[in-house]
Amino acid sequence: MTSFTHVELTIKDAVATIQLNRPEKKNALNPEMHQNIHDALTEIEHDRGVKVIVVTGTGDAFCGGMDLEKCFLEPFDEPEAFDASNQLAVSWSRRLKKFPAATVAKVNGWCFGHGFQLAGLCDIVVTAEEAVFGMSEINFGIFPGGGTMWVAAHNMGRKQALYYALTGESFTGLQAVSLGMATRAVPKAELDAEVDAIVASLAGKNVHALRTTKHVYESAVELDFPKSIDVELAKLYELSYLTENEWIRKALEQFKRRAYRPGLQSYTIDEER
Ligand code: ACO
Repeated sequence: MTSFTHVELTIKDAVATIQLNRPEKKNALNPEMHQNIHDALTEIEHDRGVKVIVVTGTGDAFCGGMDLEKCFLEPFDEPEAFDASNQLAVSWSRRLKKFPAATVAKVNGWCFGHGFQLAGLCDIVVTAEEAVFGMSEINFGIFPGGGTMWVAAHNMGRKQALYYALTGESFTGLQAVSLGMATRAVPKAELDAEVDAIVASLAGKNVHALRTTKHVYESAVELDFPKSIDVELAKLYELSYLTENEWIRKALEQFKRRAYRPGLQSYTIDEER
């Protein structure tokens, strides 16, 4: 485990966990914490075997958003410092969005502003039913910015995104599923077990297949159908090359022996790390 000032990073086998650790401030993101997240992502990048990143918070908060005092109020009269902390925040958001590993947000509690964005950027969001999500920016006179509106627009429907951005009203983890902000909600007592099961499933997949699935999804969102087909075919050949045709030689060979049913299970991989 690596302990940064306000973030703890654990890498165990194929799974990295980034735990925001400033519970006395509801894991609000001060400039040091933004840097800590960068440092954690850099350490994960150096480990080519990481397939899954779990992001979560300590205590009763996932993330209370930007530290309103340290990032906005105090540096406001020093434009360079003000801009620097904002740039630091949006740059780890960009990195996380395009990170090749599958990202899972484990939303254990309060989830506001840039924390709302952090959850929404992850590929999968598992939340405690009791968690509270919100785009609170309108409540202090601004709007969801720095990527948060993008997250709302790309996860929620128009009527929902605008309602919650305009009113600043919060919603629960249970509501987050039907609003498009979470994949699944479970009672808080079951959150760890639920995430562990999903992470185990992801960690059991081929690392190149996981990365390619993310890449192809992102390009499918951007491209029209004919162009997307081109990318998908090219990526299949690339994946075959990178894995030495594991899907044919191992996965479908196991199917030929009826060792598993692909509709219900994954083939058995035995990757060395
Ligand atoms: N920035 C700075 N400090 C914060 C933040 C924040 N975003 N969130 C919580 N804190 C601090 C509180 O000020 C308090 O500090 P104190 O002990 O020095 O008084 C401490 O964390 C504990 O918070 P409480 O408000 O006492 O906890 P409570 O359980 O009553 O409420 C809640 C929790 C609802 C999360 C509340 O703290 C809150 O509204 N925070 C702001 C959330 C928000 O609007 N975030 C968006 C930020 S803007 C952005 O991300 C772009």
